[in-house]
Amino acid sequence: MTTPLVVGNWKTNGCQSESVNLARAIVRLKRRCPARVQLAVAPPFTALASVTRALRRSGIGVAAQNCHWLESGAFTGEVSPTMLRDVGCDMVILGHSERRHIFHETDAVVAQKVEAALRNGLRVILCVGETLAERRQGRTAKVITRQFRIALKGLAKNAIDNIEIAYEPVWAIGTGQNASPVQIARVHRRIRQLLTGRFGKAAGSRSRILYGGSVKPDNAAVLATTGEVGGFLVGGASLAAESFMSIARCFNQELN
Ligand code: PGA
Repeated sequence: MTTPLVVGNWKTNGCQSESVNLARAIVRLKRRCPARVQLAVAPPFTALASVTRALRRSGIGVAAQNCHWLESGAFTGEVSPTMLRDVGCDMVILGHSERRHIFHETDAVVAQKVEAALRNGLRVILCVGETLAERRQGRTAKVITRQFRIALKGLAKNAIDNIEIAYEPVWAIGTGQNASPVQIARVHRRIRQLLTGRFGKAAGSRSRILYGGSVKPDNAAVLATTGEVGGFLVGGASLAAESFMSIARCFNQELN
């Protein structure tokens, strides 16, 4: 079985000192009581360099929450994939629903970013997910399929070795209302079909599918045993080291 991946998305929270303290607290807890998963955190841009330093030799990855699609140029306010590599980032979250819905990122923009991130040696966590209205209209599978196909269009088959798909229903993010195991399993099965159809059976079966949306210490154990859940993307509950690590440890049971 592939090692699960648990990523903390800190969003727009924390100045440098708070971010470094949180990173160090995670390292301490990980040493005391290991989680048998791959861990990563996604601090705000301004804390990427200092968190990367704080996590050196810890085995914990560092992800950015977004990036631009070109390496450099006249793009006021943007951060490029080259710059992310320069500060020691390993990964980048792309297509998060807050980027899609608040900042109007289209599928085509997400696709450009995915291609640029991979070209620059970053792993990609690609978020897909339907809104509540789309779910109610019975369009969940259609929306996920469209987001998946456009974002990954034109990539070589082996690109999937550097991509994780995170299913994040928009209505579950930051609401305290997680998707049910049945809902998650259904969408993850669809994503698995898309992965094997697009990248071949072997590579498509290996790749991890994460779930995100109100994952908390008290629902993580059930969600970790849900079919095809290969890890979590955690927002609010990743802002405290204890809750983040207790979520990550839910996979220990699963791996026994
Ligand atoms: P949440 O956020 O855990 O606070 O719902 C998840 C996410 O946005 O990735």
